[in-house]
Amino acid sequence: MELAPTLQGIIEERSLRWIFVGGKGGVGKTTTAASLGILLSRHRESVLIISTDPAHNLSDAFDQKLGSSPTQIQGISNLFGMEIKPNLNTDNLEFPEVFGVSPDENAKSLIGDIVNSIPGIDEAVSFSEMIKNVQSMPFSLVIFDTAPTGHTLRLLNFPSLLDRGLSKIVSLKQNLGTAISQISGMLGRPDADQILGNVFSKIEQMKMLIEEINRQFQDPKLTTFIAVCIPEFLSMYETDRLVTELMKFNINIEHIVINQVLFPEDQCRMCKAREKMQFKYIGQIKDMFEDFHIVINPLLEEEVRGIERLAAYSKFLVEPRRSS
Ligand SMILES: Nc1ncnc2c1ncn2[C@@H]1O[C@H](COP(=O)(O)OP(=O)(O)OP(=O)(O)O)[C@@H](O)[C@H]1O
Ligand SMILES: [Mg+2]
Repeated sequence: MELAPTLQGIIEERSLRWIFVGGKGGVGKTTTAASLGILLSRHRESVLIISTDPAHNLSDAFDQKLGSSPTQIQGISNLFGMEIKPNLNTDNLEFPEVFGVSPDENAKSLIGDIVNSIPGIDEAVSFSEMIKNVQSMPFSLVIFDTAPTGHTLRLLNFPSLLDRGLSKIVSLKQNLGTAISQISGMLGRPDADQILGNVFSKIEQMKMLIEEINRQFQDPKLTTFIAVCIPEFLSMYETDRLVTELMKFNINIEHIVINQVLFPEDQCRMCKAREKMQFKYIGQIKDMFEDFHIVINPLLEEEVRGIERLAAYSKFLVEPRRSS
């Protein structure tokens, strides 16, 4: 039996705290995240949409400048948006906040070297700091408008990345421990050992934080993922890869939005040929994802920008359009 072709289940699942919207570039992730945000703001006390895509376009969708802290969406008092800054790099790591050690130049470069020896760890740290921050804010629900698939999967892979990073630092510390205390005296950094210990314990704290966040992300009562795709081979293939990876990370996914679909009554000759192709892939997607809610959204004549158009688009998420 086909599951309901809508996102209604998500609206009704009141325990949900984190919703990820992801998929290939340009398919309609931001449009879906923004319009779902509008819908949910009518059912929840307060909703925050966070863009984690370094090439942000959430501001464009709302036709309103959004900052790096929650900014109220004009006209909707309980809907907020924010665009988080692209990855930290070690040049602008906020050492006192992140590592709790004095940010003098030598210490910075020592920590920088260690952090740089583990690719991606700076990003993991900044992501977990951001989540910790958001958790302390009074939002009932957070929607992530994510970057194209690869980036998002990397983000969800942070706990194991940090785990590997931590073991690397442990062995580094053991191997270098005595050498460091000897050399540090000569380098005029008698406190190098202590700084290293500090870094080590901070990273351990960070790991615990990420593990806690991960527990929440793996709890289907709290977290779900919505895949957005278009009915074409590459996008369908990428959705399959995304679903497989999410299952590996134990992240719940039950809904797929197929966007930019042509309906017969809107069509020219060119569209008819494209509709035939789309029809084939919609059939394949339904076969591939039998136990998913497959939501089919029409290609509209115009871009979906601004609250009014987003609100109109949001109807398709819960009331499927039928061919006349
Ligand atoms: N169903 C639709 N009909 C018409 N235009 C659409 C539809 N869905 C999205 N668009 C438009 O297509 C463009 C891309 O959509 P959107 O920004 O939501 O995609 P995205 O997946 O977030 O892209 P990116 O990967 O670049 O972040 C936007 O201009 C949006 O207004
Ligand atoms: Mg986007």
